[in-house]
Amino acid sequence: MVLIMGAGAVGCFLGGLLQASGQSVVYVGRPKVLEPLASHGLTLTDLDGRQNTIAGRDLRLFSDLPSALGSVGDQSSVEPPVVTLLCVKAGATLAAAQLLESSLPAGSVVVSMQNGIGQAALAQSVAPSLCFLDGMVSFNIANLGDGRYHRGTAGLLAATDHPVLRPVAEAFKLQQLKLRLVADMRPIQWGKLLLNLNNPVNALSGMPLREELMQAGYRRCLAALQEEALHVLRAAAIEPAQLTAVTPQKFLRVLRLPTFLFRLVARQALKIDAKARSSMADDLTAGRLTEIAWLCGEVQRLAQSVGLQAPLNARMQALVEAWPQRGAPYSPRQLAQALGV
Ligand SMILES: NC(=O)c1ccc[n+]([C@@H]2O[C@H](COP(=O)([O-])OP(=O)(O)OC[C@H]3O[C@@H](n4cnc5c(N)ncnc54)[C@H](OP(=O)(O)O)[C@@H]3O)[C@@H](O)[C@H]2O)c1
Repeated sequence: MVLIMGAGAVGCFLGGLLQASGQSVVYVGRPKVLEPLASHGLTLTDLDGRQNTIAGRDLRLFSDLPSALGSVGDQSSVEPPVVTLLCVKAGATLAAAQLLESSLPAGSVVVSMQNGIGQAALAQSVAPSLCFLDGMVSFNIANLGDGRYHRGTAGLLAATDHPVLRPVAEAFKLQQLKLRLVADMRPIQWGKLLLNLNNPVNALSGMPLREELMQAGYRRCLAALQEEALHVLRAAAIEPAQLTAVTPQKFLRVLRLPTFLFRLVARQALKIDAKARSSMADDLTAGRLTEIAWLCGEVQRLAQSVGLQAPLNARMQALVEAWPQRGAPYSPRQLAQALGV
């Protein structure tokens, strides 16, 4: 059985794919997510034309972990999970990990499918009896409402190699999705974090991703944040993985091209649904805690660890955190001015 801890965009999409491949999946999430699933079923679509629907009656949906697992260790109503996918946002990691620690058998494998660098380690710090592994989803998934989840971009799925994940990788393969199992997730996590530095730019632009990336001024802001992060990574001797058609260094040059050239050169990267936005944009709109402290904050922490500073990433974090006072999008010029680039 695969347990989805935090059924949201990522959890429902990954869980749905595994269930469509014949895996037994249990979803733990909030009533606001589970109720539409129960009444409309779970529908997965993507930019390649996928259409999977799982009827509500076939979804095992729970709003709390103990009832999802029954009484594991005694007469369990549900078999203990072979693997758990931790799919909550970074701000909810500690609480979710504590719940898992008190409910799962010792030694259970939990894969953090979250953005950022240290989520698995953070979870491990409060759940010492479990085995946390790093994972990464590098495509965008949007909750379209009524139980519909849509993958709006291409991208990689990866996790630390572990024997229990091999059958999971086979199940994803049946759904034409490659789960890459690697010895060291750090380069992939940093490669993804560089790309995720667009999340705050997108959130503050108030625009869909594609529209935002078509504006040279926003791209310049992103390039400046990435350049600073690359400088810090070099100092820390970390080589980020290449997750786009070009290396992270060359990607900076592509971002700085005039828009007519950018459109041509970045054709592949721009295969994004017209309406797709970063989930940080949704968080700001909904007044929720964002993951900025685990994106720009990670760059600052790494900088400090090697005796450097990351002032642009610090300023970007401050702008996102000050959104509730401002509440209005930044034009490209306003954002560049606010960042000082
Ligand atoms: N969406 C994407 O395109 C995407 C792509 C790649 C990576 N990621 C990363 O994947 C992670 C998950 O993102 P997401 O977009 O899937 O987030 P999401 O849609 O907000 O889903 C997470 C869900 O888990 C729920 N949750 C939190 N704590 C819980 C608990 N203890 N028990 C049950 N449910 C709980 C949340 O409820 P509350 O809202 O009440 O906390 C929320 O409904 C993030 O780190 C994100 O950066 C997202």
